[in-house]
Amino acid sequence: MTETERIQELRTVLHQHNYNYYVLNQPTISDQDFDMMMHELQELESKHPEIYDPNSPTQRVGSDLNNEFETIVHKRPMLSLANTYNKEEVEEFYNRVKEGLHGAPFQICCELKFDGLSISLHYEHGQLTKAVTRGDGIQGDDVTENVRTIHSIPLQLDKGLDYPDEFEIRGEVLMPWSSFDRLNKQREEEEEPLFANPRNAASGTLKSKNSSTVAKRGLDAYLYYLLGDNITDDGHYENLQKAHSWGFQISKNIKLVNSLQEIYAYIDYWDQERKKLPVATDGVVLKVNSLAQQRSLGMTAKNPRWAIAYKFQAEQAETTLRQVVYQVGRTGAVTPVANMDPVQLAGTQVRRATLHNADVMQKLHLHVGDRVLVEKGGEIIPKIIDNVTENPNPKHQIQFVTNCPVCQTPLVRYEGEAAYYCPNETGCQPLILGRIEHFISRKAMNINSIGPETAEDFFRRGLIHDAADLYTLTEEQLLTPEGGGQVNARNILQSIQESKDVPFERVLYAIGIRFVGEIAAKTIARNLGSMEAVANASIDCLLGINGIGTVIAQSIVQFFSNPVNQRFIQRLQEYGLHMKLSEQELSSHSDRLTGKSIVISGVFAHHSRDEYKAFIEKHNGKNVGSISGKTSFILAGDNMGPAKLEKAQKLGIPIVSEDEFLEMIGE
Ligand code: IVH
Repeated sequence: MTETERIQELRTVLHQHNYNYYVLNQPTISDQDFDMMMHELQELESKHPEIYDPNSPTQRVGSDLNNEFETIVHKRPMLSLANTYNKEEVEEFYNRVKEGLHGAPFQICCELKFDGLSISLHYEHGQLTKAVTRGDGIQGDDVTENVRTIHSIPLQLDKGLDYPDEFEIRGEVLMPWSSFDRLNKQREEEEEPLFANPRNAASGTLKSKNSSTVAKRGLDAYLYYLLGDNITDDGHYENLQKAHSWGFQISKNIKLVNSLQEIYAYIDYWDQERKKLPVATDGVVLKVNSLAQQRSLGMTAKNPRWAIAYKFQAEQAETTLRQVVYQVGRTGAVTPVANMDPVQLAGTQVRRATLHNADVMQKLHLHVGDRVLVEKGGEIIPKIIDNVTENPNPKHQIQFVTNCPVCQTPLVRYEGEAAYYCPNETGCQPLILGRIEHFISRKAMNINSIGPETAEDFFRRGLIHDAADLYTLTEEQLLTPEGGGQVNARNILQSIQESKDVPFERVLYAIGIRFVGEIAAKTIARNLGSMEAVANASIDCLLGINGIGTVIAQSIVQFFSNPVNQRFIQRLQEYGLHMKLSEQELSSHSDRLTGKSIVISGVFAHHSRDEYKAFIEKHNGKNVGSISGKTSFILAGDNMGPAKLEKAQKLGIPIVSEDEFLEMIGE
């Protein structure tokens, strides 16, 4: 056998073992044998790059390269479901379906509602070609590299099975409780912020820039929706069973029923039994089984009429409050957190609960020793919802802190915000970290080889004290104690170097002036042209800029009056960042859209939505989210939402096509 043949053989065998292990839960060889074969394959593949295959089982271990996510327009929009919280609403759904089908018999497929994030997988000729997150339903992130590390998702289907040449299958990526607990335990030891629930952890993991992180975190996936032009069976349930036979993990707890009573029984059963499942669920999904009937029922503006989600009630328990502590977030926001006697709630032991902010906390009139009612919904950290102590004495009430628990600076409250903030942006650790994270983020300097975790690691190791220090890093500092990780170190240094090309408006955003978001930074950059001009601008001068109000103006002046910030900016300049608009940026702007409020809707052929937003800004127009009497026109692509269309027609607002728009702005 040649080495090439051996590679093919190992790939086939390992795909099968993966499936046996992760989908069937029935491994037929020992872990050790599996690892040995994997090792052999890795070695052979490194000798034969010419037969690289992105779907090889070795790709499941992930890579350390960075994935910048590309935005992909969904072939078919990813709709979400209408939610209901009680059985009356389920009955209403059932009756609507009955009516909609004019008395024809129908079956309902009952499924669990998995609490993760939805994913759309595309297969061509049995090969996984793309995995895309839901995003906004119209377009999502291409997370294919990360998804390849999820063992229960087949990378290639066995030949000879009856799957169509091309199909899409959707489902939920989730983090099983066991992985979640392990991850949070590890984060606790490393003093990293904990994930609030498996869904956040799954979502954070799937969006990780580093697929080897994904590979380590033990994500799983259940598929629940098969789509495509060549789906032969009329039954949704039957299609899922078929998908199972092709190698997909489908929940075993799906049930076809014929009556409302059976639906109720399913709901009641799973409301209890779900606590024993290895993954988080937050409800039940009910779907009309026949695809023909689904089509005839159609959809509303937002949701299909043939399906609905019933959400389980959040669980509650009573316990005793012991202490309130305060956490300082990366923005400086101070969150009160209750420490309580441990109590069993929704499958886990709970001893901490959030109190959100000073107002919520004060309303509860809390004292040490009070009996409190704690609730844990699917999506949130447990929270205290009531003080059940009789006559709590206001005299001994716990008062919200006045100073930052980390750096002791007196806290401030900004107008219109519920939280108190530590204002010590240049001297309080969590805030400094927050500023570094912001600086490297995609829309700021886009230093994509460093994620928040790496940045924090550099900070804790004393390699950087602020974002400007990133530009002083050397390869030596980034190597591991044993001198390894050279490729990684060079990647990091390269993307730091590349960030020096980021245009001035994004530098202005990246330096992290409170309240100066992306749009404000752009507006100011275009009006003032340079960092020097911004630093020297008076409040009045700033207020003269269209769209800049007192809060932003004051924040800017305050920022530049701080010597620590002055030094920071000076250093960034010394390291070669853009501190003024380029000639090209100065000349490419126009006033063609001045005074126009524009709504963007639908899917576009020539540019992405973000690019159209940028065009609108570039030509001095305003992009707004919803249609009103003040809207000047709608920039409409394909598949504009029917509700929007109706509203536009009612208000007589012109609809401008993509081509017309591009002509209008002369692009
Ligand atoms: S079906 C058009 N089935 O719940 C039907 N969704 O808003 C599309 N989910 O975005 C979804 N378990 O992320 C379906 N068994 C299940 C589900 C499920 C969880 C999620 C999914 C979707 C949301 C509903």
